[in-house]
Amino acid sequence: MAKTRTKYKCSECGNTTYKWQGRCSQCGEWNSFEEFVDIKPAASSRGSDRLSDALKTSTEPIPLTKVSSSQEIRGSVGISEFDRVLGGGLVPGSVVLVGGEPGIGKSTLLLQVAGKVADQDMTVLYCSGEESMAQIKMRAERLDVASDNIYLVTETRLEEIVRHTEAIKPDLLIVDSIQTTASTQITSSSGSVSQLREVTNALVALAKGKGMPLFLVGHVTKGGNIAGPKMLEHMVDTVLYFEGQQGVPFRLIRAVKNRFGSTNEIGVFEMRSRGLQEVTNPSGLLLSERPDNVPGSAVMCTFEGTRPLLAEIQALVSPNNYGPPRVTAIGVDTGRVLLMLNILERYSGLKLLGHDVFVNVAGGLKFAEPAVDLGIIAALASSKIDQAIPHNVVVFGEVGLSGEVRAVIQASQRLTEVNMMGFTHCVMARNSVETLKREGERLPENVELSPVSNVRDVLNALFGPG
Ligand code: TYD
Ligand code: MG
Repeated sequence: MAKTRTKYKCSECGNTTYKWQGRCSQCGEWNSFEEFVDIKPAASSRGSDRLSDALKTSTEPIPLTKVSSSQEIRGSVGISEFDRVLGGGLVPGSVVLVGGEPGIGKSTLLLQVAGKVADQDMTVLYCSGEESMAQIKMRAERLDVASDNIYLVTETRLEEIVRHTEAIKPDLLIVDSIQTTASTQITSSSGSVSQLREVTNALVALAKGKGMPLFLVGHVTKGGNIAGPKMLEHMVDTVLYFEGQQGVPFRLIRAVKNRFGSTNEIGVFEMRSRGLQEVTNPSGLLLSERPDNVPGSAVMCTFEGTRPLLAEIQALVSPNNYGPPRVTAIGVDTGRVLLMLNILERYSGLKLLGHDVFVNVAGGLKFAEPAVDLGIIAALASSKIDQAIPHNVVVFGEVGLSGEVRAVIQASQRLTEVNMMGFTHCVMARNSVETLKREGERLPENVELSPVSNVRDVLNALFGPG
């Protein structure tokens, strides 16, 4: 007979106790304890009644030179923006966890992937524990996905998903989502720490054993992390996050972990009435609604993964005569905005204290690269002095604590993008310009460069001396 006993487990570090704790004594996380029923298997069946254990195949050590590398041949998912984030396609047996807020487009994207893979004459098994067959069918019709190679099942039981996989032998398995899938051998409810661990373990073992790629959809918590213990991210090969804002069609997929590629890469999509469309010219879309001749708007050039991206950054600086001044930032770090405010105040002579400050990246994207500093500075200064930045100007560069403007990586690729998007003037670090000239880089002829050393130079270059 199996023995049961109620225990508590920290969802962050896995610390197990017999008593509930408000704060984990091991990792210090608050409110992370969840109740679960620990089942101790009877001695005779110990270790053999878990599906995840049964699925694990043991392998014998072999010399490195004898290991076949054919495993690493990647298959395209048929959507190049998505292949890019995956590091150039799907590796057989790889497990990809796709996280994001509800309604952001996870199920839509994976159904589109299923369609593209099925078009390549491969079989896909799509297991959903979230929606009915009819709902998925309706979405498929909207997305124009129709193929006999796609098998659909609404299932929340892990054992059944494994059974269907064994029967259908798909080339790709999609499980939507891990939080709704549960093993019937564990008594705790779906989404609990022990269920998540068992489900993920078993599905990873299944994918690895068969050399079949697997997509897992993961819900996110209020903080934006994939719900469940952090170790979930360790169990899979790749973790992707969907970013975007309600009401803004832009969707960005970012890899935060990738055993088979770079984690800097992003894929850019637009949610349209017929699903997610790839955006091949993100700068063009990001700048499409930029107002003409308005103070507080600057165009900056940031670098995401292997490509430059132009984006509009907006600032509103208005005097606050009532309460303590506030700084609000969307799309860039608030701390960075505060720092730029203080640098401007100290080194440019602009009086910004006692003002409410709002900074926003148009299009709902988030940027954390240092080159964004100069965009923040330009937008803040433009709003404060109520003078628009000329329409043909792009800025990029890091700003240091002494108000100095520093060089950033990939300056020449950024300039190419500036030129391609039709801008004719670029304000950038003097050091960058000198390095480019020294190294004999070919600079775009149509882009006039304004090399700047500090924030005063920046204001002169943007608004003229004064
Ligand atoms: P969905 O893929 O269900 O999100 P998730 O699985 O991440 O919860 O996306 C649902 C949203 O996308 C919903 O608000 C409707 C919208 N949508 C479109 O705008 N166009 C489409 O073609 C589809 C299928 C969905
Ligand atoms: Mg969904």
